[in-house]
Amino acid sequence: MPDERNASAPQRFEDRVAWFQQARFGMFIHWGLYALPAVHEWIQSRDKIPGDRYGKYFERFDPDRFDPRDWARTARRAGMRYVVITTKHHEGFCLWDTAQTDYKATNSPAGRDLLRETLDAFRAEGLRIGLYYSLLDWHHPDFTIDAFHPLRDLPDAELAAANAGRDMRAYAAYMRAQVTELLTGYGKIDLIWFDFSYPRNGWRGLPGKGRDDWQSRELIDLVHRLSPDTLVNDRLDLPGEGDFMTIEQKQLDEPPRGGPQATGVGTVARCWENCHTFSGAWSYSRDEMSWKTPKLCLQLLIQAVARGGNFIINVGPTARGQFDSRARERLDAYADWMYVNGRSIHGCGAAPETLPEPSKCLYTWNRAANRLYIHILDWPYITLRCPGLGRKVEYAQFLHDASEVRFSDNAPGEQTDPTSPPGGLTLYLPEVQPGGTLLPVIELFLKPGSLG
Ligand code: GLC
Repeated sequence: MPDERNASAPQRFEDRVAWFQQARFGMFIHWGLYALPAVHEWIQSRDKIPGDRYGKYFERFDPDRFDPRDWARTARRAGMRYVVITTKHHEGFCLWDTAQTDYKATNSPAGRDLLRETLDAFRAEGLRIGLYYSLLDWHHPDFTIDAFHPLRDLPDAELAAANAGRDMRAYAAYMRAQVTELLTGYGKIDLIWFDFSYPRNGWRGLPGKGRDDWQSRELIDLVHRLSPDTLVNDRLDLPGEGDFMTIEQKQLDEPPRGGPQATGVGTVARCWENCHTFSGAWSYSRDEMSWKTPKLCLQLLIQAVARGGNFIINVGPTARGQFDSRARERLDAYADWMYVNGRSIHGCGAAPETLPEPSKCLYTWNRAANRLYIHILDWPYITLRCPGLGRKVEYAQFLHDASEVRFSDNAPGEQTDPTSPPGGLTLYLPEVQPGGTLLPVIELFLKPGSLG
């Protein structure tokens, strides 16, 4: 019997991911009880804090300065087109008014459905909605103790007894009930981000967890049934499943290969997303000092798009509900840069692989607009030589102020201009990097059909 879903997949896949690949840039938000200890979202696991002791954070979770419209405005100004927010992280606490557990924002001093207000605010600013949902759950009584669970160091007999009373099938049903709530009660959900599988992380004879534990097949079928256009990520431990590949805290020189929807072994990933933190933790972390510089933040965004991917940068709001000053400073840098350079990101992707980039530069390409963008990471002296672009360019300008950039070029195979490479283009730059933007971009208006 022909598999109809597969038969119609390629065309359908392109349509489903079109908005995502246009958007390119999004905001990740990690917010939960871990904002109170303000160290790391894994603190309950790292410090092996049993549920009764972790409960003090539930009792004190009172985000009195929570203003999701401010979050949403900040994201839009930064040039972001979608948001992915933790509905529930590994600690098990739920930001929405779920009927499946009492461990939720409505029962904490917050006393309200924080998810609903957040989604309303982001939609009002025109952003697409993504929900992060943790497959791990250190609070749920049926979630078996494993390598990451806070109770993993219980004495043998107690550990065995504790696990004997736990039932992962009941937990998998709980997840389906929660995902059903999220996909049916909160408007259009554009994307769902499951996190994560670890089948090879055993502990004291206890196995890691993967597709059989989550009942991943049932879970993804449920998503497809309830909300066929919702994009799904690739962390359910189902080879080939999902719509996009997730690359975490990496800067890729080459586009990733494989992933869900790959068209063959070793082929470039068709759809992928790079996620990053501003600093070492995903949650608000008061004393964390390893903050990425604003310039590096920009560079990571550009690099992902230049290799055909999306980029989401994470904010961990404080327990009072605010973005802290260090995050704001970086979000402002995105806002300033995107305000003038956003058209080198939105709707753009990788340039053809056959076109080598000048050194210390990255290309992004808007195929529909027929424009190529040169992101200059490190200012060169007076000239910038671009191999392979001879006779392909009509006009060049700095993107941030539309000031002309003069150039000379050679026809393919010729070198009438000795300062340009054969078949190349030489751009004449000011000696000093122009002010007005942290990382300058040159916009090349291409001759029709010159890059395909
Ligand atoms: C890692 C972190 C987790 C975070 C996720 C986001 O898996 O451990 O806390 O939510 O990355 O990609």
